[in-house]
Amino acid sequence: MKIENSLPRPQLPETPPQTGLQFTVATEEDFEEIMAMSQDIYGGLDYLPTRYTAWLSESNRTVILARKQGKVIALESVCVIDDGDTMLVEGLRVAPQERGKGVAGVLLRFCSQLVKSKWPEVKVTRLTRDDQLGPKDFQKYRLITKQGILLVRFNAEDLKLRLSELGLHVTLPPSSEGTPQGSDTPLVPPVLLDLNEAHQMFLNSGLMSDVLPNATIVQDWQPFKPLPSNMAILLKKDIDWMVDDRDVPAVASLCTHPFRVPGGPYRVGDDTYYLNIDVFGKDIGLVLQQFLSHLRRHTATLKGYVMCQMFLYPPMWKPMVEFCRQTLKVELVKEYTEQCVVESDVM
Ligand SMILES: CC(C)(COP(=O)(O)OP(=O)(O)OC[C@H]1O[C@@H](n2cnc3c(N)ncnc32)[C@H](O)[C@@H]1OP(=O)(O)O)[C@@H](O)C(=O)NCCC(=O)NCCS
Repeated sequence: MKIENSLPRPQLPETPPQTGLQFTVATEEDFEEIMAMSQDIYGGLDYLPTRYTAWLSESNRTVILARKQGKVIALESVCVIDDGDTMLVEGLRVAPQERGKGVAGVLLRFCSQLVKSKWPEVKVTRLTRDDQLGPKDFQKYRLITKQGILLVRFNAEDLKLRLSELGLHVTLPPSSEGTPQGSDTPLVPPVLLDLNEAHQMFLNSGLMSDVLPNATIVQDWQPFKPLPSNMAILLKKDIDWMVDDRDVPAVASLCTHPFRVPGGPYRVGDDTYYLNIDVFGKDIGLVLQQFLSHLRRHTATLKGYVMCQMFLYPPMWKPMVEFCRQTLKVELVKEYTEQCVVESDVM
């Protein structure tokens, strides 16, 4: 059955004829073909399968496919945020056999042209990257902020037991800067915000300026400026919003509700979930408490395997890894990588 994207199709700019590529707006029926060329993406942690259908229905977003002889060989999504100032590039991928031939460059330029024609007020392009950026990239982009990526895997039922054994005191990892060796920290329960509180706190620049990295709310892979229009997008998502203190926050965190992973190398039966946590703040004890609190909330009901991806202030990575390994006894899936939010002007 052919399911059409319910939104009016945007007028696409002319395809540059010399590239031999055709560009089309993605529809539901392209899903299988897109997944087929995305097998190796993010080592099985590709978020696109769970977001694809929702993306097609978002009015500020367009998903563009590049085709060669009719076959899908690349995808990019562009989404306009920050009160219309920013074009956010997401999901970029090129089929493995077509990489290294300039396809991504052509697609990026095409999408930029498309956005300019549809939203002429857009000033900058933003994207997040987790690959190693070199000097050539920094000629193109300004670095807005970066977070360390900590990826661990565990069995939810095992971790639930471990967390109940831990009780209300945690021993900080010995290498935590500024903390005494192995200090025992009482767990002060973090504050789970309701949506109204989250809205007010995150828009209060006086409160959050020392907490958010470069005044950016990075939720998973999406960077947002703290603006009412962006909060309207964020508050519709299934996220838990937490701070350490409502009046004087030093740490804040956003945790997705667990969502099923449709495939990937870590799949065990049908019960593998993602849990993505963004933590903002520089105090290891408080960061740890937010992390534990999100884990406790979700392991209460979860069964099966969980891939938990945490994005955090880079110096927090090492002590958190030690805590995850030594105290929580969970498995580190990959060594240190970074999530970089970068920006360039739209020409
Ligand atoms: C990254 C990828 C899209 C590059 O595709 P490609 O067609 O081989 O790229 P090109 O030949 O056009 O050249 C690479 C250009 O894309 C840029 N690029 C690489 N990764 C990029 C990214 N994530 N976002 C934007 N630009 C990127 C490079 O800096 C380079 O720019 P330059 O031409 O100014 O030097 C491709 O290797 C791929 O699909 N990788 C797996 C998926 C992935 O990692 N996607 C990125 C995150 S969603």
